[in-house]
Formats: sequence, C-alpha cells, structure tokens
Amino acid sequence: MPILNILRYPDPKLRRIAEPVTQVDAAVRTLVDDMAETMYHAPGIGLAAIQVDVPWRIIVVDVSEQRNELLTLINPRIVEQEGAQVMEEGCLSVPGIFEPVERARRILLRAIDREGRELEREAEGLLAVCIAHEIDHLDGKVFVDYLSRLKQNRIRKKLDKQEKIAM
Ligand code: NI
Repeated sequence: MPILNILRYPDPKLRRIAEPVTQVDAAVRTLVDDMAETMYHAPGIGLAAIQVDVPWRIIVVDVSEQRNELLTLINPRIVEQEGAQVMEEGCLSVPGIFEPVERARRILLRAIDREGRELEREAEGLLAVCIAHEIDHLDGKVFVDYLSRLKQNRIRKKLDKQEKIAM
C-alpha cells in the first residue's frame, strides 16, 4: 500500500467541501487503508481524505498509545456535544505548528464504518478533539482558522520558510 502525499496549508485544495460517500466499495476500502498507513507513517493521530486530495467524507483516527485502535469514520456527523476543553492541536497539513484550540469536551457521533455498517459512539477528551478536528477538514476548515489573524500570518510565513529550506 502506498504512502499518500499530504497537502500542506495554505493549499487551496484544503478548502474544498468533501462529498458524502454513497457506497462503501473496494475503492473506498483501498483509500481507507492507504490513509491509515499514511497516518501511522507520518506519524499522526488523525487524517481526513481531503488532506490526501480526495474530496470524500472519510477520516481515520487513532489516539491510542499502542497505535492499535484505528477508527474509520465515513460520512461522520457530530449529533450532540457538550462542555468545553482547550488542547494544543497540530495537523499533518500544518507541520511543526502546535496551538491551543477550544472544542467540545464530549461528543456523540454517527458514521459508517469500513464494512459499511452504521455506528454511533461517544467520545471525549483527545478522541473528541481529534474527531472534531478531522470533521472540520471535510468542511474545508483547518485548525489555524480558529487562531488570531496575527498568528495565522506568522504560521504562513514560517511554513513558507520551511518550504524554501526543503527545496
Ligand atoms: Ni489536521
């Protein structure tokens, strides 16, 4: 399975709104498997399809320490949320940047799994943050959007510099 290329902020392709998946077929499962491999390889705790340039509503998440609790969420929706928590977030599309963001403390989620089954589950803490962060990607949002203009400009400059060094 190939490691997929991850789009980098501020790539305008990260701003697209992803389309719902209508059928969980072999193509979707192959994409899911490649996304999981790409996430573990990076390494990261979550990845949205839009970050690998596929505008479908698919995310993979694994916040476990052993890296053995992969969650595949297709067409994920947060149907309830409560409370608030602030965590330092990072993103595979915004390498090297970590900033505090406030999100719900607990969420109730509905989605379809890799086998095409409906699932509903609760999440809190880091898992809730990670799922909300990835669902944002499906709506064209990146976590830096929650930061001040000043911070956003600084991040853009820093990433621009990294790119020049990498070349
Ligand atoms: Ni991200």
